[in-house]
Amino acid sequence: RRGGVMRRNIVLVGMMGAGKTAIGAELSRRLGRPLWDTDAEIERAAAMTIPEIFARDGEDFFRAREAEVLARVLAGGDSIVSTGGGSWMREGNRERIGQNGVSVWLDCDAETLWHRVRSRPTRPLLQTADPRGTLERLLGERRPVYSLADVHVTAARGDTVEDTTNRVLAAI
Ligand code: S3P
Repeated sequence: RRGGVMRRNIVLVGMMGAGKTAIGAELSRRLGRPLWDTDAEIERAAAMTIPEIFARDGEDFFRAREAEVLARVLAGGDSIVSTGGGSWMREGNRERIGQNGVSVWLDCDAETLWHRVRSRPTRPLLQTADPRGTLERLLGERRPVYSLADVHVTAARGDTVEDTTNRVLAAI
């Protein structure tokens, strides 16, 4: 089973602050596979930051670019793909991920997510009067959809990147 899975992309999904970027980097290092961070690829292609893209062109434009970048990086195969927290919410993206890889939900509690994202003004969706409430509402809406991922790995505050990575590798 593992032999088959290991040739496919490993695609990390989950909320902002769940650790997708950090765990993706560690998986890439340990498995010697390329790492694609879709947010970083979108920024590189647009030569703008994500907050700039949201501010100038809006969320729909961002989501269209996100779907394109995701399709492109998945097509390469054999990679680690760290996705933005919203990409798994789109059915078309889920289908493409399902065809090209194993999806891993990094499931993190609201408290831990908030602790990680509060100091970083890089998430336009949290630029609201009550960012913590917004984060909790998003988590509530998205949880049932994240739970459709192939693999579910919990990643809580005290866990090291190494521990969580070990759990991902054991689960796929
Ligand atoms: C988003 C998450 C962000 C980024 C954008 C939208 C979301 O990525 O794609 O701000 O909808 O949850 P991270 O999950 O890497 O923060």
